[in-house]
Amino acid sequence: MPKPDLSVQIGGVRLKNPVLTASGTCGYGREYAPYMELSRLGGFTTKSVTLNPRKGNAPERIVETPGGMLNAIGLANVGLKTFMASKAAEAATLGTPIFVNVAGHSIEDYVKVCEAVDSVESVAGIELNVSCPNVSDGLTFGTDAALLKDLVSEVRAVVKRGPLIVKLSPNVTDITVTARAAIEGGADALSMINTFLGMKIDIRTRRPVPAYGWGGVSGPAIKPMAIYLVHRVYSQIARAAGVPIIGMGGIGSWQDALEFILAGATAVSVGTALFVQPNVPLEIIDGLEAYLLEHELPSFEELVGAVKPV
Ligand SMILES: Cc1cc2nc3c(=O)[nH]c(=O)nc-3n(C[C@H](O)[C@H](O)[C@H](O)COP(=O)(O)O)c2cc1C
Repeated sequence: MPKPDLSVQIGGVRLKNPVLTASGTCGYGREYAPYMELSRLGGFTTKSVTLNPRKGNAPERIVETPGGMLNAIGLANVGLKTFMASKAAEAATLGTPIFVNVAGHSIEDYVKVCEAVDSVESVAGIELNVSCPNVSDGLTFGTDAALLKDLVSEVRAVVKRGPLIVKLSPNVTDITVTARAAIEGGADALSMINTFLGMKIDIRTRRPVPAYGWGGVSGPAIKPMAIYLVHRVYSQIARAAGVPIIGMGGIGSWQDALEFILAGATAVSVGTALFVQPNVPLEIIDGLEAYLLEHELPSFEELVGAVKPV
């Protein structure tokens, strides 16, 4: 059998395979170069970039939890100016499509950052991190459908080149409502999911850890919820709308990745697992390729959403 075609399409961008890194878990790329052959990745997603640099929350900012971790980094990042001046050029040398994750606290912030990032030719696409509260009303963009639709449509107007990916928050009652709002606002793709809100208490000091008070739970513990949410959005909205999903949440093996693909994801991202084994995305790519070969499948096309009906 000829070598299977691992490539997948996200918006107008063809990725050589469906495996990306998840935002915030491997900086802007160069930091990870000693640990992984980055050019083999389907794509690389940067840490969130905000208009101004952010130091983030006071340490400690990460703590282990059963089956995962809890982080309250607080969007520590270099800010738009430094990203444009140095990080964008560094990222362009990674040999894989770069998706820049953008965060903000007002629609104006998002629009400014997205407009600037969209002008960088080496950037393949933009991922909107919408798990941030809006400064004007305190509502979180990703949990208020009307606000989310406004945000996405305003950003859509300035993003002219690559795909606009909207990263959904799982911290909602019905994720299909925000998924629909993102698509109506003009999203070319959805990525899902961001972390679940969580809390851990040190019973000795009686203080919460991380020090911020609460944080986002990621890793294997959230995988079943993430798969359920991907399948729900795929089967109820995204498949009919022709909008691809990048699935994430606890992926640490090719079998995990395949579960997400069967649930409806076109591509997958790996985050927390990188802290355990930095080159695991490459093993996932090899494992998926071996699966296609073993099952004599020419590509992933017929696997996306192929979970059997109950
Ligand atoms: C330490 C850490 C930092 C993160 N920072 C960001 C971030 O800056 N922007 C973002 O959109 N998601 C961020 N995330 C969320 C991940 O991109 C991903 O959505 C989530 O962790 C679920 O995937 P995982 O279980 O494979 O880590 C972060 C996650 C972790 C663990």
